[in-house]
Amino acid sequence: STPAPAQTPAFAFKPVGIATDFDIHVPAGYDWQPLVKWGQPLFSDAEGAYSPETGVAVGQSDRVFGENTDGMETFEHEGHVLLAINSEYVNTKVNLPAASEGVPQNADEVMLLKNMQGVTVMEIAERENGWQVVLDSPYNRRITHETQMTMDGPAAGSDLLKTGADPKGMSPKGTLNNCGSGKTLWGSYLTCEENFNTYFGTTDPAQEQVTEGFDRYGIGGESRYAYEKFDPRFDISKEPNEPHRHGWVTEIDPANPDSTPVKHTALGRFKHENAEMVQAKDGRVVVYMGDDERGEFMYRYVSNGTWAEGQPTDGLLSDGTLYVAKFNDDMTGEWLALTPETTGMGMAEILVHARMAGTRVGATTMDRPEWIAAHPMKAEAYCALTNNSKRGGEGMAVNAANPRETNEYGQIVRWRPEGEDHGAATFTWDLYVMAGNPEVYDNAYGGSANVTPGNMFNSPDGMAFDTQGMLWIQTDGEDSNEGDFAGMGNNQMLVGNPETGEIARFLTAPNGAEVTGLTWSPDRKTAFVGIQHPGGSWPDGAGKPRSSVIAVWRQDGATVG
Ligand code: FEO
Ligand code: CA
Ligand code: CA
Ligand code: CA
Repeated sequence: STPAPAQTPAFAFKPVGIATDFDIHVPAGYDWQPLVKWGQPLFSDAEGAYSPETGVAVGQSDRVFGENTDGMETFEHEGHVLLAINSEYVNTKVNLPAASEGVPQNADEVMLLKNMQGVTVMEIAERENGWQVVLDSPYNRRITHETQMTMDGPAAGSDLLKTGADPKGMSPKGTLNNCGSGKTLWGSYLTCEENFNTYFGTTDPAQEQVTEGFDRYGIGGESRYAYEKFDPRFDISKEPNEPHRHGWVTEIDPANPDSTPVKHTALGRFKHENAEMVQAKDGRVVVYMGDDERGEFMYRYVSNGTWAEGQPTDGLLSDGTLYVAKFNDDMTGEWLALTPETTGMGMAEILVHARMAGTRVGATTMDRPEWIAAHPMKAEAYCALTNNSKRGGEGMAVNAANPRETNEYGQIVRWRPEGEDHGAATFTWDLYVMAGNPEVYDNAYGGSANVTPGNMFNSPDGMAFDTQGMLWIQTDGEDSNEGDFAGMGNNQMLVGNPETGEIARFLTAPNGAEVTGLTWSPDRKTAFVGIQHPGGSWPDGAGKPRSSVIAVWRQDGATVG
């Protein structure tokens, strides 16, 4: 049994208890409703595209909101409020006819899956009945696995990126498995390709060329959606370089629906979580990034040029240096530059195979780096290390920042750059929290001192700071509420106070779902929260479960963060 959480004066809400049901719970005095659901039309010609029994019709599938919402950001443009939102992956059993048994049977079914993923840009407006999608707004746009893109940076046009369809290696199509997000200082959207490797397969194993990079990036196994059977682009026996064109950070201008998205190779290729942009003291642009895989690394990109409001942005995300993090056991750390001199690799190879470059310079293996969030008022950043079943195994000894073998709960590491400058070469670090279960364990697996029976959780993942300097933490973990996870309930969103360490539970998700993606209305009176892969028939109460973004607000109209 879990004691009722106490009112915590540090927070402007009374924390909620755990839940195990198929609903959303928010604190007393708050309310919520869906903003946009999987299959909801963005254009009036797609009204009727969604059916609770059969899902989305393929013919209109690039005219509706995608499935499995993830990272998102809010933009203001000429009096319009725009949201850019990732649709990370698809649940084939939800999207495809039952007869398909979760595997696409024809090109139309592959096209449906391609269209239900990617990015949605949409205008929203606050009406009498709350925030709503503006149907037919000229800003509404879908970016899918078929959308034409371009590339820049040192790897663009290199031999590693050339394919039969694109002999110049400059014109990739689509952005795959868009997980976390970022917002540039100049108001564009960054979307991050995560588990892109799972989209590639082979129709002719005899022709498959498995390179060292394929192994490190997990390419060459069974594909997740059988795209390769109906589209040679995803067949590595025909296009062995196509996987090199994915795993990048892509920039999208939400204010211009005709703009071509740009993949920035200077930011490196790995299983990107999000891209947190800040500025060095001298005005250079700094982007913090995690590579979500057991034992992979944390990265930092620093531009060569500087930026200030109103100045041009050319080259800021194509001309710079990529670094990997080394966390020393004495709680100092350093950023190790990935250059031809430090790695013995060519520049294009360093970026395409950033993981191998990181190994060559001695980066610290981490417990799956998920979202990174930078404090808005001081030079301090946080990374959610979600969990790592392999920690303590071969090649992955425990270290001070990743201190628990078979780490099933996760931790949040934070660092303070030397001289309060995100451009500095060194930093000091500590663990903000080690998640754990104090009712099951009285050792390190019980969690750090700020974890209690009233706020426990596992697998921190999404994170964002609000304007008050509070850290919002979203979980993507085990929601069985049994055994080592008893007393944690469904996935949840919590708020952490960086100064006191206190953490309080703000929201619980429907069973089966993870909470991922957080942004706010411009007036901060509404928080938009992503609910991915819900169970049951949430939120409609009947028919298929629908991944959705919800709006959460205070009934008295005060700000929410
Ligand atoms: Fe898509 Fe690492 O979460
Ligand atoms: Ca995530
Ligand atoms: Ca996760
Ligand atoms: Ca996930």
